[in-house]
Amino acid sequence: MNRMKAIVKQSAKSNDFDLMEVPIPEISENEMLVRVKAIGVGIHDGYFLPRDVHYPYPIGIEAAGIIEKTGRNVTDYREGDQIAFVSSMQIKGGTWAEYAVVADDSLIIPIPEGMSFEAAAAVPVAGNTVLKALNALQLKPNESLFIAGASGAIGTFAIQIAAAHGCIVAGSASKRNHDYMRSLGAKKTVDYHDSDWTQQIKQWKPDGVDAAMAIQPNTGSDSMAVLKEGGRIVAVSGDQLTPYNNIAIKPFPYQADVRDELRGLMNQIASNDIKLFIEHKYPFVKGLEALQKTGTRRARGKLVITMS
Ligand SMILES: NC(=O)c1ccc[n+]([C@@H]2O[C@H](COP(=O)([O-])OP(=O)(O)OC[C@H]3O[C@@H](n4cnc5c(N)ncnc54)[C@H](OP(=O)(O)O)[C@@H]3O)[C@@H](O)[C@H]2O)c1
Repeated sequence: MNRMKAIVKQSAKSNDFDLMEVPIPEISENEMLVRVKAIGVGIHDGYFLPRDVHYPYPIGIEAAGIIEKTGRNVTDYREGDQIAFVSSMQIKGGTWAEYAVVADDSLIIPIPEGMSFEAAAAVPVAGNTVLKALNALQLKPNESLFIAGASGAIGTFAIQIAAAHGCIVAGSASKRNHDYMRSLGAKKTVDYHDSDWTQQIKQWKPDGVDAAMAIQPNTGSDSMAVLKEGGRIVAVSGDQLTPYNNIAIKPFPYQADVRDELRGLMNQIASNDIKLFIEHKYPFVKGLEALQKTGTRRARGKLVITMS
């Protein structure tokens, strides 16, 4: 009986994924067992694995669900609590499963009243990432911000949070996403397929923009080209950048504590002050299609998997 369905990586071979039955993991005293109701999808899900991974390994790092069981030392959460969470590099398995183990010191966000599990599952990783990237940039009202890859999960939040802070935002994506970025608050949009897109930003802000957030890989150096002298940039995907023009290359602040801001963001999404866009919801049995889609880096907003 103690078995569950999970989408697993079966071996160290690439793309060796399958939906199969595995044992429900046991919790220790500082852990909780969560019945997963919805799963947030990201490109990392296929390759974020703990160093001493045991195959078959349920993949995935974020989800939303209901706490089914708590370890003896867990005091802040109770059975029946509804939470969204990030459970990264969990040796007992990830979140693409009917049950997931969550340590009580993981990134856990209580789900606000009335918010669906699907919406809640879409927030933790993108929300945590955007808040850390914004923390690195320390934007002030009226500053201009360029976001490379602004129509995806992180960019969708980045445009709205920066615009609400009084910043003037420009974003890049293909043309089909320009109305979308404008609907979120972008004042200027460019298509990264156009060879002159950096010039288009320069025509818009002749001295260059104050700050840049390079979300997609390999967008960092082009994003530096649209910055003013002394501007600042954070590269979310870890692009290695060479300083010039007095530009401050801000390291991505992995250790920054943005839990309170993340809970605030969750409440703003629940009250519809910040919009969430879920391009597609996949039933669990079609989870591998979600993995394939996120790998294309072409999703608008977020992809989510739902448990029946
Ligand atoms: N540092 C961290 O802690 C951390 C955490 C999470 C994620 N990440 C990184 O962040 C990246 C994912 O961000 P995400 O989840 O927001 O991505 P995403 O949701 O997959 O973004 C997809 C969007 O990006 C656009 N896009 C794709 N390539 C682009 C390019 N070269 N220039 C401009 N836009 C482009 C696409 O628009 P079109 O379809 O219109 O082209 C699509 O709408 C990954 O590389 C991941 O490793 C870092």
